[in-house]
Amino acid sequence: MTPSEIVKRLDQYVIGQDEAKKTLAVAVYWHFRKSDRALADAVEVAKSNVLLIGSTGTGKTLLCETLSRILGVPFVTADATSLAQTDYVGHEIEAILQRLVDKAGGDVARAQRGVVFIDEIDKLKAASGQARAASGESVQHALLKIMEGSQVRLRSSAYIDTTHVLFICGGAFVGLDDILRDSQAFGFISLSGKESPRVLRSLNARVKPGDLRSFGLIPEFAGRLPIIARLDDLSKPMLVRIMLEPRDSIYNQFRAILRSDGVELAIDPIVFEQIAELALEYKAGARSLRGIFEGLMTDVLYVLADDPAIRRVAIGSLFEEPVYTKT
Ligand SMILES: Nc1ncnc2c1ncn2[C@@H]1O[C@H](COP(=O)(O)OP(=O)(O)O)[C@@H](O)[C@H]1O
Ligand SMILES: [Mg+2]
Repeated sequence: MTPSEIVKRLDQYVIGQDEAKKTLAVAVYWHFRKSDRALADAVEVAKSNVLLIGSTGTGKTLLCETLSRILGVPFVTADATSLAQTDYVGHEIEAILQRLVDKAGGDVARAQRGVVFIDEIDKLKAASGQARAASGESVQHALLKIMEGSQVRLRSSAYIDTTHVLFICGGAFVGLDDILRDSQAFGFISLSGKESPRVLRSLNARVKPGDLRSFGLIPEFAGRLPIIARLDDLSKPMLVRIMLEPRDSIYNQFRAILRSDGVELAIDPIVFEQIAELALEYKAGARSLRGIFEGLMTDVLYVLADDPAIRRVAIGSLFEEPVYTKT
């Protein structure tokens, strides 16, 4: 699959985030090409792990999950903060890789070409005063080792080689824009007039290793994440689209549930706008959509269960009672 084909498939499940989709698609495309023997033998190409920057609930996990499903490679997620809370980072990392092998059905060779997503990487500050638990910095060192590629011994005493495992790190990096503004890199370049405004803009929006250092990432670690993609905060129209458009959108799911009982679910477009507005207030991206929607549907499912004669449910507003029609 080419990068553009990957993006097309991602579009079916993930709304917006075009830049992140493109960057990620190119990264995995080359990652898997590079790990093909023929190429690897010709030149030793270093692995390029990916960093996804975006607020909570903007689709970081969804993107990685969907990507690995499309590619048919094993995929696991881990949380950097829980790594920092354990006494034995080594054990925890081993457990992550073990899960990857389990996802590959015990096939170590398949697991070695899998994807590991590590979230909340921006919380790995080098904290002081932590007596027992691993400090963020030591977690970074431990992660660095497996990201560069190393042999890790598993529970089953088999070894997994992480050289061709693709690591994607994620984080919100709150306040990053302020840091970027202070460290603009290309403002001083004298222009010849031939530059593409699009290219200049994207160079200026680039996150530099120094910017990441302000979040407590050690230089070696930041250096291991050369590919950086940013996810946009979700706007109200995007939130509405998320409820409606993906193949497995919540609306489609509930319509299918009701349809299987012979009930038609009709929700006025205004309701999705209302839900999106509430979700914006909650500031958790698309994360709160499902909760609000399910709250709305709980009443409906409650009523439907008692009355098999109902053939249609119409919801005209988030703040009004649903209208039930019987045959
Ligand atoms: N861009 C998007 N397109 C479709 N659904 C999304 C998008 N962003 C978030 N979601 C929905 O919100 C939920 C949380 O998203 P997630 O990927 O876990 O966010 P993050 O990892 O960035 O915090 C997902 O289950 C998904 O249903
Ligand atoms: Mg996530």
